[in-house]
Amino acid sequence: MFQFSSLLALCFVAPLVTAGPCDIYASGGTPCVAAHSTTRALFSSYSGSLYQINRGSDGATTNIGPLSAGGVANASTQDSFCANTTCLITTIFDQSGRDNHLTQAPPGGAARGTDPNGFDNLAAADGAPVTLNGQKAYGVFIPPGTGYRNDATNGIAVGDAAEGMYAVLDGTHFNGNCCFDYGNAETSAHDTGNGHMEAIYFGTGGAAGAGSGPWVLADLENGLFSGPNRSVNPSDPTITSRFVTAVVKGEPGTWAIRGGNASSGLLSTFWSGARPSGGYNPMQKEGAIILGIGGDNSNGAQGTFYEGVMTSGYPSDATENSVQANVAAAGYATTSLTSGPAISVGSAVSFRATTACCTTRYIAHTGATVNTQVVSSNDTNALKLSASWNVVAGLASSACVSFESRDTPGSFIRHSDFQLFVNATDGSKLFREDATWCPRAGLNGQGNSIRSWSYPAHYFRHFNAILYAASNGGADTFDATALFNNDTTWIVGPAFA
Ligand SMILES: *[C@@H]1O[C@H](CO)[C@@H](O)[C@H](O)[C@H]1NC(C)=O
Ligand SMILES: *[C@@H]1O[C@H](CO)[C@@H](O)[C@H](O)[C@H]1NC(C)=O
Ligand SMILES: *[C@@H]1O[C@H](CO)[C@@H](O)[C@H](O)[C@H]1NC(C)=O
Ligand SMILES: *[C@@H]1O[C@H](CO)[C@@H](O)[C@H](O)[C@H]1NC(C)=O
Ligand SMILES: *[C@@H]1O[C@H](CO)[C@@H](O)[C@H](O)[C@H]1NC(C)=O
Ligand SMILES: *[C@@H]1O[C@H](CO)[C@@H](O)[C@H](O)[C@H]1NC(C)=O
Ligand SMILES: *[C@@H]1O[C@H](CO)[C@@H](O)[C@H](O)[C@H]1NC(C)=O
Repeated sequence: MFQFSSLLALCFVAPLVTAGPCDIYASGGTPCVAAHSTTRALFSSYSGSLYQINRGSDGATTNIGPLSAGGVANASTQDSFCANTTCLITTIFDQSGRDNHLTQAPPGGAARGTDPNGFDNLAAADGAPVTLNGQKAYGVFIPPGTGYRNDATNGIAVGDAAEGMYAVLDGTHFNGNCCFDYGNAETSAHDTGNGHMEAIYFGTGGAAGAGSGPWVLADLENGLFSGPNRSVNPSDPTITSRFVTAVVKGEPGTWAIRGGNASSGLLSTFWSGARPSGGYNPMQKEGAIILGIGGDNSNGAQGTFYEGVMTSGYPSDATENSVQANVAAAGYATTSLTSGPAISVGSAVSFRATTACCTTRYIAHTGATVNTQVVSSNDTNALKLSASWNVVAGLASSACVSFESRDTPGSFIRHSDFQLFVNATDGSKLFREDATWCPRAGLNGQGNSIRSWSYPAHYFRHFNAILYAASNGGADTFDATALFNNDTTWIVGPAFA
């Protein structure tokens, strides 16, 4: 009897569902006023849409929701909707009920996107696959030129009002350009002066922390800060974890930066104290929300976003520590970036076109120009070698591969302004990223399509017999939607020579 009634009591008091990050912030008296994630619901009760995608084949859109209230995104909805075509993330919905959704960022004071109206690019929907406790989901992989924004928000801090924010990011995807941000920015998309922003920044811009970066910093406008001034703050460490939790918060007179390994352990405080001088105290926050760009739409940065929120009020460290425990328990892990027939490291391959015009043509090169040429077993060894490629571990990520020219060892297929070249490696981060490719099942149902690691909307495509890194329906002529699937699909076979 005693056991039975204890058990019964336990059933009534034990929470049936785990609190989400926004339930934790609400309990702490600092509720979420924006909650964005393509990977999971951030309130235990949330079962609405997480994000919207648009597909290249017919322009149709669909919304992706969680598998259950409070759960992980249903990646199957995306995978089936995007079968045999490409998809872009058009909207990241606000789960807070305040309609603070993020959509394609408009042109700003510092930069225009390549869209006809100057908007930034949208992120490929499949650029950042992960698992959460074993369930597949997709993050938002942001290459340079890509960004999301909301300039007409509801409930986001303005002026010197207190706020907090956290984001879960990829600690290995960054650069030093301005600005991979998530947080509070100008409503005009122009630089309106110091103190008009308060956003998380991740990358190597502004030599502000210990080591060589990347760092979690705060973009407060006209300054990426690690502490109370523009000097290096040795307590703001170089981040080495694959998944990183980044925290920024501010209230009148004081603010803080915190961070940690999103997969385990606690948050550390990198700075907590006085505001910088020179226009940052009091703050003049405007309350727009940005993702992947600076407040003035500077769009040269790269990074990956999985989830993040903005709060009303200054969250306590204890509340943030509970959020960190929740993030760690969500179980973020990496998963394969490739699919389709295996293209094995250590093999040597040729790529045959599959478009009806061109099925005797193979990817070859003439000097630095990558092209297609008709090649057969009877051709000269020189031609055969020019159409033959060594498969090596991806120069930027061993999850993908790079293709070394068989006749020019040390030179690799890389994209530059979205054309493909055979260039000698210069060892730079940019070169390694431009030369890393993630093969997937062929878009037209045959062989493989070869996706850029650094610009995952872009694929190997032949167009007038020249090779490009093309995006379906993008701004360049070689991005034409007609024949996109065929022109980006290759039969990958043994090398000619
Ligand atoms: C997930 O999406 C797939 C494909 O759209 C659908 O068949 C399935 O019912 C969804 N699962 C849940 C739990 O909603
Ligand atoms: C910056 O702040 C640190 C920590 O308070 C202080 O030690 C240092 O002197 C400051 N540097 C400048 C240039 O103000
Ligand atoms: C982050 O945490 C995970 C899980 O415990 C661990 O495997 C990984 O090594 C940690 N990363 C760093 C840089 O400590
Ligand atoms: C494109 O690919 C599809 C599917 O493999 C095929 O049926 C069609 O004939 C191809 N069209 C051209 C023009 O190559
Ligand atoms: C190669 O040459 C032989 C002999 O001339 C010929 O029979 C064969 O069809 C040629 N093969 C190709 C692929 O052109
Ligand atoms: C790559 O090749 C192109 C075409 O020859 C050339 O313009 C460019 O400078 C080369 N880049 C590097 C880094 O070698
Ligand atoms: C779509 O892709 C699947 C998987 O790669 C393939 O089996 C199928 O043939 C493709 N269909 C078309 C019409 O391309």
